[in-house]
Amino acid sequence: MGLKPLKIAKHTIKYPIFQGGMGVGISWDRLAGNVSKEGALGIISAVGTGYYQKMQFVEKITNSKPFEAINFYSKQALNEIFKNARKICGDKPLGANILYAINEYGRVVRDACEAGANIIVTGAGLPTNMPEFTKNFPDVALVPIVSSAKALRIICKRWMDRYARIPDAVVVEGPLSGGHQGFSYEDC
Ligand SMILES: Cc1cc2nc3c(=O)[nH]c(=O)nc-3n(C[C@H](O)[C@H](O)[C@H](O)COP(=O)(O)O)c2cc1C
Repeated sequence: MGLKPLKIAKHTIKYPIFQGGMGVGISWDRLAGNVSKEGALGIISAVGTGYYQKMQFVEKITNSKPFEAINFYSKQALNEIFKNARKICGDKPLGANILYAINEYGRVVRDACEAGANIIVTGAGLPTNMPEFTKNFPDVALVPIVSSAKALRIICKRWMDRYARIPDAVVVEGPLSGGHQGFSYEDC
């Protein structure tokens, strides 16, 4: 195909293509697992995992919804999603997308590491403390989504000062993308 592999920290992605994380059921085990199986990077969304498989992994439901962040971002369901994705893609690189703006961001990052994510991608905010939550997982690559050089400079400076590291890669999204970058209506 003429595409060269992409190396991010210890992980080699055969084709340099990321499947963007898409929340609430869009990029879970089947989509992300198959993308990784085919040699690109599949990314599991950590948003709304409580809804996975008819909410069967949730401890408490009220008004037909997972109750509070602990259930909406269900660790048990995320584990199942990774387990089922791994059945499809084996040990090929597989990522997790975790929006910085969510409740219990740090806990969900740890959950994703424990579930077996190789790469964590975070947008929707400036993840200035992201490395804090992956201390025990040195092989997990950290990839912020940025929409400006200024945002990346702030992240790099904070990470260097506090954790002596910089991002393993960055995703750059411009105003024409479908992401969460905080551009104004006019920019788009
Ligand atoms: C339906 C939908 C859901 C999305 N959910 C997320 C999400 O949960 N987290 C995130 O970082 N980006 C999310 N995105 C953004 C995508 O991951 C991707 O970065 C963005 O769409 C830019 O790629 P594109 O230009 O090919 O659309 C979503 C996009 C779509 C279309």
